[in-house]
Amino acid sequence: MKFGVDYYPEHWPEERWAVDARLMREAGIQIVRMAEFAWAKMEPEEGNFDFGWLDRAIETMGREGIKTVLGTPTATPPIWIIEKNPDMLPVNNEGLRLGFGGRHHDCQSNAYYRQHVKRFVTVMARHYSDNPNVIGWQIDNEFGNSHLNLCMCDSCKEAFHKWLEKRYGTIENLNKAWGTVFWSQTYSRFDQVPVPLPTPNAHNPSLLLDWKRFASDLIVDFQRQQVEIIRKECPHHFITHNFMGFADKVSYFDLAKDLDFISHDQYPMLFSKGKYPVSPPSRLAATLDLMRGIKQKSFWIMEQQAGPNGWETMSHSPRPGQLALWTYHSVAHGADAVVFFRWRTCLFGTEQYWHGILPHSGEPERRYEEIKKAIQELAPVMDYFKGGLPDSEVGILYSYDQNWAFQIQPHHHELDYKEHLLGYYEAFYDANIPVDMLSEEQDFSKYKLLIAPLLFLVKPELVRKLEDYVKNGGHLVLTMRSGVKDWNNAVIPETLPGYLSSLTGIRIPEYDCLVGIEQAVRWNASGLYDLTEPVSKWADIINLNGANALAYYVKDYYRDTPAITMNCYGKGITYYVGTELGPEIMKKFITYATCKADVHQIIISPEGVEVTRRKGVDGYYIFVLNHTAISQALEIDSGWQNVLGAENLKGNKLVLEPYGTAIFRAC
Ligand code: GAL
Ligand code: ZN
Repeated sequence: MKFGVDYYPEHWPEERWAVDARLMREAGIQIVRMAEFAWAKMEPEEGNFDFGWLDRAIETMGREGIKTVLGTPTATPPIWIIEKNPDMLPVNNEGLRLGFGGRHHDCQSNAYYRQHVKRFVTVMARHYSDNPNVIGWQIDNEFGNSHLNLCMCDSCKEAFHKWLEKRYGTIENLNKAWGTVFWSQTYSRFDQVPVPLPTPNAHNPSLLLDWKRFASDLIVDFQRQQVEIIRKECPHHFITHNFMGFADKVSYFDLAKDLDFISHDQYPMLFSKGKYPVSPPSRLAATLDLMRGIKQKSFWIMEQQAGPNGWETMSHSPRPGQLALWTYHSVAHGADAVVFFRWRTCLFGTEQYWHGILPHSGEPERRYEEIKKAIQELAPVMDYFKGGLPDSEVGILYSYDQNWAFQIQPHHHELDYKEHLLGYYEAFYDANIPVDMLSEEQDFSKYKLLIAPLLFLVKPELVRKLEDYVKNGGHLVLTMRSGVKDWNNAVIPETLPGYLSSLTGIRIPEYDCLVGIEQAVRWNASGLYDLTEPVSKWADIINLNGANALAYYVKDYYRDTPAITMNCYGKGITYYVGTELGPEIMKKFITYATCKADVHQIIISPEGVEVTRRKGVDGYYIFVLNHTAISQALEIDSGWQNVLGAENLKGNKLVLEPYGTAIFRAC
């Protein structure tokens, strides 16, 4: 089971299904995902179930050897459910109750809705538990999508109060943790605590952070209800959910715990916002690495872009070769299966212009042929590295809590947790150094170099874990605004970086927000002032307390004071970067730190050509990916054997066509 499509039999006449199934089989498709939005079709009125059409669709697919992944349709409760209980429509952060007509018009804490979910999912799971053509389940669809700033209804408010009571035990503890003495916000009961609806000024940052945590936990709990039903009814089926990369409404680390493996939806042209036709390849790679990092495990792509995207406005048409390249890219970063969204472009509804493999006409054209060819090439080799990870020597900590805390208080209006983190990621990406993303809970010890960006919130266990990591020889990079707050989002009364002081060997008595100020640093690690490069957003003003300086600020009253430091601690090193580095100084710094940590790059490649790897049974599988529209040449390692795409190798010189790819084996 390696390649699939998202299929909506309910959108097409039944006579067409067999034609689709045949075309799919001819293209090498072995999986379909179906039914995730088809509640109204499966239960047109309460208790009146109609699975007949879906049974026949599954059967039609099965005849061509295609297995089905079923989606639970809980992102689209039908109108009759809403009519019976309009209270389950969600309330947004302006207090407005949203209406029926799109999808995800559900409040996930609503007891009545939960009842319906339980009832429907149980019936559906029972119906399909023994169907030989059904292999697994996707719960709901893209949790957190369309749940922006939701839901602030009374039911969610009550659930929030219960959540707070569980977390704090007594209201006195909450008052203390949040500092509610400020502006007379002291509560005497949990049920007095507001949800963050508009208030004349701004809410308490501790309340806001807990609200985000609560909203995340609610989604995890909503999913768990369905997971429990399906585990019981369908013990032989896998359970997954389709994630959305860097989306942040729910902690994917938490959401993934109940799943067998995670899936992800990869749309390279989706987040381009008109500026670039395609998201920069490093972003696409980072997204895939985060998805692999969620469980430190290979994953599925449940929706891989298959044509131009568009609801109201549209993306470019993927250029010849791009759809294949992106398929290889997903596989290169850890996908064991790739399911394309969608099979055929829809004739009606919101997604009329969200193109599938087939155009509106249903006639196989260029995109069909390109994807078919990519499947035919990849399918035979994918078992060689199934489950394989890149064996990264570098890890980057990714934290929902830190991200949320900076969303609440960005300090500088342009400071963004994800962008700051990606600045580091990109330096490794450009050097073809594989990177893992991981959570604060995962194992640090296997990494030679660990980046913990913007470690704003700290707790004692985390500080100890980082100290042990460095003591035992790890090299750690901490960045600006580290050690500022406790886990409740209240400031720690210590000279910064607080509990991280002995690890870093520095004191930060002052800092400067660089809004409207140009600042730069000069790199001085080699003893010569050999590079002066811009930095931005923030400047921690650092006193050395055992550490050495690697770079200095060049302007203002703190000119010539350290901006980047390095401290030997136990057998390892801690770096502290007091500002946001521009790309040149970042490159310099990362080259220095990787060299010290003895981190290896796979190979040097021209700009726009990515090289990454997966471990296989008999060595590493190296993927070379040309993300550019021109052909590119590079020298490969003489020990590499061609697996795919490098038949025309001249000596060690590999020439890739525009968007071309190759796979090698390195033993
Ligand atoms: C995804 C979603 C799909 C479809 C697609 C195109 O986010 O999971 O159901 O809506 O986008 O818009
Ligand atoms: Zn609600």
